[in-house]
Amino acid sequence: MNRETNDFVRATSRAKYNEGYMPGFGNDFETEAEEGALPIGQNSPQRCPYGLYAEQLSGTPFTAPRASNERTWLYRMRPTVQHISDMARVELPHFRSAPTPDESGLPLAPMRWDPAPIPEDAGTWITGIRTISTGGDVLTQVGYAIHTYAVTESMETEVFYNADGEMLIVPEVGNLRFFTEMGVIDAGPGEIVVIPRGLKYKVLLNGEDKARGYICENYGGAFTVPERGPIGANCMANPRDFLTPLAAYERKDGVTHRVTVKWCGQFHACEIDHSPLDVVAWHGNYAPYKYNLRHYSPVGPIRNDHADPSIFTVLTAPSGEPGTANIDFVIFPPRWLVAEDSFRPPWYHMNIMSEFMGLIEGVYDAKPQGFVPGGMSLHNMMLPHGPDADAFYAASLKKLEPEKLDNTIAFMFETRFPQQLTKYAAELDTLQVKYPDVWKPLRNHFDPNRKVWTGE
Ligand SMILES: [Fe+2]
Repeated sequence: MNRETNDFVRATSRAKYNEGYMPGFGNDFETEAEEGALPIGQNSPQRCPYGLYAEQLSGTPFTAPRASNERTWLYRMRPTVQHISDMARVELPHFRSAPTPDESGLPLAPMRWDPAPIPEDAGTWITGIRTISTGGDVLTQVGYAIHTYAVTESMETEVFYNADGEMLIVPEVGNLRFFTEMGVIDAGPGEIVVIPRGLKYKVLLNGEDKARGYICENYGGAFTVPERGPIGANCMANPRDFLTPLAAYERKDGVTHRVTVKWCGQFHACEIDHSPLDVVAWHGNYAPYKYNLRHYSPVGPIRNDHADPSIFTVLTAPSGEPGTANIDFVIFPPRWLVAEDSFRPPWYHMNIMSEFMGLIEGVYDAKPQGFVPGGMSLHNMMLPHGPDADAFYAASLKKLEPEKLDNTIAFMFETRFPQQLTKYAAELDTLQVKYPDVWKPLRNHFDPNRKVWTGE
């Protein structure tokens, strides 16, 4: 605090607990790693401070409505035109793009997988991505891909950018450092990271020798926080808990770097003689961010019934049709279950939307067994699902008291598109081929002469 004046006491910085980051969702941020690197009152002076190049990165068309318009001005040592040089096609056969129809060969059914072990030679962020399902079409910028990642090697002199979509990353094992053009994000299990389309970055292991998790690659409009309606101005994912990094740069001239680009489902790479992570200052609202899922403030039924899972939406990527997401990111956080005279787990369900689930930690209440951290399940468009038999009978017959669901973070990627499983996902030996058997022990209890069922 500055106590030199008698008139007022003024803060000299933001809150310390978020050091290295700026709080807020979709703010117009500004940050400079060297004093005075940001031009004042204009974007593109005749000569930028420090001789930097000014460059605009547009995440939406220039003419997008103001509320959804996204762009950032970068002040960097070299312009991005020097990040492209003699590009050559490279093959990353497991990093797929939509569409991927008719390749799983599996019978139509709900699907579930145990976690896949992290191979010792999983490789880097670029080589360690495995696509599980896709929907829509990458060429029309509609739809998504869901991937898993396993990383055992840091990217030191390599950078990647994805022209096809933003990447929502859900770590499950290991801490990662995302060194992006706009700053450094450190994240681990329980946090998510969103990297916008077109932003260059490298991914480093951060204190551990391996990492694993899930990715949603969103080809459509950018993820945003959902409307809260009558819930009001607070709860769910609060904007102040989203963190965007302060500007950070590295200065590596004369060091060969490899740049890999994902573009319309293809991969291209080239070598350049410097690090492109050379942005000294930037301002704008098109930026990477992270969010700690443990800060989610859930709102739920406080008298009866089980509400729709949309109450737990963290981020939604709109499709253009109101209420119909290209893809939603939903979590099932620790919470109290207090509903009276109610079946508290999720109900039985068929859905026009397709539901992919993963588990970050703990146990998911509809599936006490068989769905463990690092695992995944897919309940595809109009395929039935719901509590397994053990969960159904336990929840139907137990004495209801307030109950804390603790140490659990499950999540769902829910999309309007039928999910097309890849051959890789279909052939994983972690696929639980007997998964639909979890519902077989459910009995028919109906007796027209006995209205009150007590469990027999
Ligand atoms: Fe469902």
